[in-house]
Amino acid sequence: MDVRDAIIGRQSIRAFAPDKPVARETIERILETAGRAPSGSNIQPWKVWVATGAARDAIVDACYARHMAGDQGEREYNYYPVAWREPYLGRRRETGWGLYGLLGIGKGDKPAMKLQHGRNFLLFDAPVGVFFTIERDMELGSWLDCGMFIQSVMLAARAEGLETCPQAAFCGYHDTVTRLLGVPADQQLICGMSLGYALDDAPVNSFRTSRIPVRAFTTFRDMPCTGEPQGL
Ligand SMILES: Cc1cc2nc3c(=O)[nH]c(=O)nc-3n(C[C@H](O)[C@H](O)[C@H](O)COP(=O)(O)O)c2cc1C
Repeated sequence: MDVRDAIIGRQSIRAFAPDKPVARETIERILETAGRAPSGSNIQPWKVWVATGAARDAIVDACYARHMAGDQGEREYNYYPVAWREPYLGRRRETGWGLYGLLGIGKGDKPAMKLQHGRNFLLFDAPVGVFFTIERDMELGSWLDCGMFIQSVMLAARAEGLETCPQAAFCGYHDTVTRLLGVPADQQLICGMSLGYALDDAPVNSFRTSRIPVRAFTTFRDMPCTGEPQGL
């Protein structure tokens, strides 16, 4: 697969074929490929926990039950801005309403939104849950390394005909996830990920998010900047 196709064709998949398991060798190949991701001084700070079978089901059952009981859990780190502001708020809303709108979920339909959000904890029916952790004493740079590794996992999965959805949603239930996986206390959950074969024709999988143009986030300079910093 061409690199551009792998990157551009990746999208968060939110409906997986439940009855199509993923071979362990395939998962190992994906992780071996992703392990070529760069990291500062090649320290490779990522740790991966792969849940299949009864281990997967236990995480799904426990997290889904917490979600349905109205337990929002507690995150160990802020993934999102504490105070939302533009332009991020608008982009977030566009994505959220775009997804719910596609599914026919109206604004204010909280029960339907809760059910759809709850699909996170069912791993969107994926047979494999992948969980990424990092040792607590690692610094920001290592989180950056892990981000590159996680994107590499998503791209390497595509080379195997597999798709993914990265999921910060599990961070609220980090205590449940880490307990059921046996993650040592000196490690912290970064995020989860559904991994499996996309369910063909599932409407939710037709959701395509937009992107801002390059000029909106890039400044080209071919001369030193002498004055006050300029906004975009
Ligand atoms: C670290 C990370 C965590 C995410 N967490 C969730 C999540 O919990 N649930 C979900 O449905 N999507 C989650 N997403 C997917 C984003 O919503 C998605 O990447 C974004 O809307 C862009 O869409 P695309 O992935 O289809 O290109 C997450 C993405 C990233 C990178």
